[in-house]
Amino acid sequence: MSRLRLIEAAEQPGEDKFQWSLRPTKFTDYIGQKDLLVRLEISIKAAKRRGEPIDHVLLYGPPGLGKTTLAHIISNEMGSNIICTSGPAIERSGDLMGILTNLQYSDILFIDEIHRLPMPVEEFLYSAMEDFKIDFIVDKGPFAKTIKVNIKHFTLVGATTRAGLLSSPLRDRFGIMHHVDFYTPEELSEIIKRSSAILNVPIDDKGSLEIARRSRGTPRIANRLLRRVRDYAEVLGNGAVNEEIAIKSLELEGIDSVGLDGIDTLYLKTIIEKYKGGPAGIEAIAATLNEEVDTLQDMVEPYLLKIGYINRTPSGRKASHSALRHLGYDVSRFL
Ligand code: ADE
Repeated sequence: MSRLRLIEAAEQPGEDKFQWSLRPTKFTDYIGQKDLLVRLEISIKAAKRRGEPIDHVLLYGPPGLGKTTLAHIISNEMGSNIICTSGPAIERSGDLMGILTNLQYSDILFIDEIHRLPMPVEEFLYSAMEDFKIDFIVDKGPFAKTIKVNIKHFTLVGATTRAGLLSSPLRDRFGIMHHVDFYTPEELSEIIKRSSAILNVPIDDKGSLEIARRSRGTPRIANRLLRRVRDYAEVLGNGAVNEEIAIKSLELEGIDSVGLDGIDTLYLKTIIEKYKGGPAGIEAIAATLNEEVDTLQDMVEPYLLKIGYINRTPSGRKASHSALRHLGYDVSRFL
């Protein structure tokens, strides 16, 4: 599945500037994640009142929901600098040592995909997070010595799609942990209206809700779909987005009323038609579709599980009644 999917949650090549221009930069611009925002705001206010950096923060949840945006908001609200990197980018402890020794008091170090830090690098991070000291190794072989070096009191903001993959020593060193959750269609609709205002695209309530329903709970997808609908409205309409334009353009792009694309539908139809609705083993489904098992597990199944269209049972995947109904099958044939 090498082609790009319009409903992919990961950022796609060349869209970072567009997505970046639509990101909120302060709490008051942020839509959704109400509980998380309230708790984070309290932590920030308390830290500022004490004149201290905020505790280390771990943000976890699916891609495209705003973890990087939140890290930038934390730095803005704290009035601190932010230094951004990612787990896979830090290959050796030496790379991290360079970053840590250059940090200033109260700087934010943002590490995206923190679960992908190599183990020796992760272990190096423990004392930096806990005591703001790092072990500096001088000399080699039998003369090797470690000396402790103090670093400035900084805040680590870690982001991960899989909190379960973090080792407990790392997880335990975060004082603040927040789960970032999927957005409701109403919240996404507000985000789409805000983005439309920034992009100068006229849009009505029904138009933004229609795009929202097809955005799989994910702001990054919502903004990407808005961009496609805007093109359609400009070329085939008068530039304004309404329900009809949204439906027509997204149907044309192969995105259905709940945000499924051709690959999702093919996956479901395989279970339904080739395996009588399931249960079907993931290997068998992958072989029928000529896809990798990992691809299905990472790119197709999470959203179908989230909306309850498939169930995972010990004997394999089953299509749910709502999936059957959505695709127009007679449920009684599968009982
Ligand atoms: N753009 C992307 N995510 C957003 C959010 N949560 N609030 C406002 N605008 C956004």
